[in-house]
This record gives sequence, structure tokens and C-alpha cells, in this order.
Amino acid sequence: MKILVATDKPFAAEAVSLIREVVEKSGNELALLEKYTEKQQLLDAVADANAIIVRSDIIDQDVVNAAKELKIVVRAGAGFDNLDCAALKEAGVVAMNTPGQNSNAVAELALGMMVFQARNHYNGTSGSELKGKKIGIHAYGNVGRLVGVIAKGFGMEVCAFDPFVDKATIEKDGVTVFDTVEELYSNCQYVSLHIPANDKTKKSINYDLLSKMPKGGTLVNTARKEVICEEGMVKLMEERADFRYLSDIAPANADEFAAKFAGRFFFTPKKMGAQTAEANINAGVAAAEQIVKFFATGDETFRVNK
Ligand code: 3PG
Repeated sequence: MKILVATDKPFAAEAVSLIREVVEKSGNELALLEKYTEKQQLLDAVADANAIIVRSDIIDQDVVNAAKELKIVVRAGAGFDNLDCAALKEAGVVAMNTPGQNSNAVAELALGMMVFQARNHYNGTSGSELKGKKIGIHAYGNVGRLVGVIAKGFGMEVCAFDPFVDKATIEKDGVTVFDTVEELYSNCQYVSLHIPANDKTKKSINYDLLSKMPKGGTLVNTARKEVICEEGMVKLMEERADFRYLSDIAPANADEFAAKFAGRFFFTPKKMGAQTAEANINAGVAAAEQIVKFFATGDETFRVNK
């Protein structure tokens, strides 16, 4: 079987070697398309692929139409909003993700951005410490839980809101659980976002919710920019000079932030949360192993388009 790794933002070289090892040892063939600049390059590369491993690369109806031999797509990562799951299902193609594999990298970035902001971007002025501050974890999945673990190391008080996780499970980690999202935002100076981007969550982090945050409110977004109501964020930051926004990937209106809110925001130029050798190896190898197992035994663990 031909397994294509199609990554606009490439994996670390070591991860690619290990993916190759898994693929070739199992008697399959590896093809590589990295740093492509045109959609057509992806459409050409998928034509004879039986499986594809992607990161945030967009797998839409055009790609599905072009991939006539395709049986499975694995998103090497957690969020699969880049896959048209319905189109894949319609074409009889299995879609999977690799949950948990890159979570530590994302969690470390969330805390890293918080320290960077608390120390005024290391500009030589006196900043503040994370110790003793409250952090609210909005969605207590693989990344959220690890953010909590690291935040505790900083001496932060960890709180969470997640209607999909049993309260007692979260409390076992020594985390205070709030029953409503409004309570979480009202009580925490820092909020770290870990919700997926879907029809229900897009633009859901809006002015009303953010304005509940206490003085020095700082939103840390290592999830997806689409979940933020950007107009609401701008309105709030115009009204509140104490409010700060940190995001792993710049919002559409980044120029407006640069013009109006210097020193109160930080945006990564590319999605950086999972950009570590360790995360690339964990997620990339897991994706390759899932594909090999699927072809060998039909195993559909981690399928997301049932
Ligand atoms: C994820 O959903 O796993 C992260 O956002 C990582 O995305 P990336 O593989 O494009 O860096």
C-alpha cells in the first residue's frame, strides 16, 4: 500500500525517518510531500495514495475526489477540523486522529506563553509571577489536564470547566471544578482554552464571556483561532487596558492588534503547539502504526468519522 505523508508544515527529520521505518518494515511504501505551496501539488500527490498522514493540512472534497485509491486518512494530532469527515465517509474512507500524542508539547507552549506575557515579553521591565494566580482550564482533555499539572508546578491554583468529563475525575487531580463556563471565566485571571473547533464552538469565546474575567485577565489560546469572536476580543481590549490575549497562531485581524494593543498580545507566526521533535515523533509514528494496523487487521480504533 502507498502511504503518503502530506505536510505543509513538515515533521522533524527524525520523525520522518521513524515513520518510514514503520511503513517499510510492514511492507508498505512511503511517499513524501512536504512544504507544498499549491493545492494542486496535494491533489497530484494523493492520486495514487492508499493512505495519507496529515497535520493541519486541509483534506476537503477536492482532495477526496482526487484520491481515487484512498482508504484511510490519519490526522497526526488531536484536532481534526481540517478533515471533511462527511466527504471522507461518503467516499468510504476512514478518518482517524492520534489523541494525546502531542499534548505535552501544546501544554508546555501554553505555560511558556503565559510566562512570556507575565514578564512583559522579557523587555527589561518588572512583570508578575504565575505563582498564586488562578488558571481556568476550559475543557479538561489530554492537553487541559497537562496544563493543570504544569501550572501546579508553578504554584498556580487550578480550576476547570468541562461538561463532558465527570466532575469526580477532575477533582481527583486536585482541580476545582466549576459547573458553568461563566463561573470559570469570572473566577480565573488566566484561562487556557482547549475546546475543539466545530459548529457549536466557533466564535463562542465572545465579549460577554471574556468580560467576566478579573483584572489582569489573560486568555491563552492553544486551541483554534476560529473559536474566538475576534470583534468581541478587540472591543474588550479597547475597553480594558489590563486584558491580554495569547494565541498559538495569529487571528485574521492581527494587524489591528499590532496597531492598538502593543505589549498586550502574542501570536505565533505558524501553529507551534505541536512543533517539537518529541510531539512529531509521537504523533507521526502513532499515525503510521494506526494505518499499518488498519491495513493488516481492519482495526478502526481512533476513527472519528463513523
Ligand atoms: C493538534 O490539533 O494536534 C494541534 O493543533 C497540532 O497541529 P499541527 O500538527 O498542525 O501542528
